[in-house]
Amino acid sequence: MRESKSELYRDLAEQLRALLATEPDRIANAANMAALIYHGLPDLNWAGFYFRRGGELVLGPFQGKPACVRIPLGNGVCGTAASRGATVLVPYVHDFPGHIGCDPASRSELVVPLIERGEVSGVLDLDSPLLARFDEGDQAGCERLVVLFVDHHREHSA
Ligand code: SME
Repeated sequence: MRESKSELYRDLAEQLRALLATEPDRIANAANMAALIYHGLPDLNWAGFYFRRGGELVLGPFQGKPACVRIPLGNGVCGTAASRGATVLVPYVHDFPGHIGCDPASRSELVVPLIERGEVSGVLDLDSPLLARFDEGDQAGCERLVVLFVDHHREHSA
């Protein structure tokens, strides 16, 4: 029997904890987290990170096709989530003004900001070729994964 969405995210959170374990390197951990999500969640065509560098987001570790490298804060779904400091869930990307199409196959998107010490340090971006692939369960699950990632690096950089 297929596990429920909350069970799936609980499993992913456990696996993420194990992958992060005592490793402090942010890039290595982001790479493994992107791979975990990409292969652990169904119907994705892209999963990965953008990290904030001043007034823009710069591409970080990801799985999927090559993507645009720099996104100014406020632009696209990623830049909007980063400038709002809040998750943006887009059921149909072509209805989102300013959406940046990296892979024309993408039809829905979920972007969760990384908030560290009150500042947005980057975003986790998931894309799907399915319409309305993401719901509130995915939002809650991915926000939990991002909190694990952020908390881990706070503990390992103090
Ligand atoms: N669609 C995103 C750009 C990043 S790619 O999807 C990987 C956006 O509108 O910000």
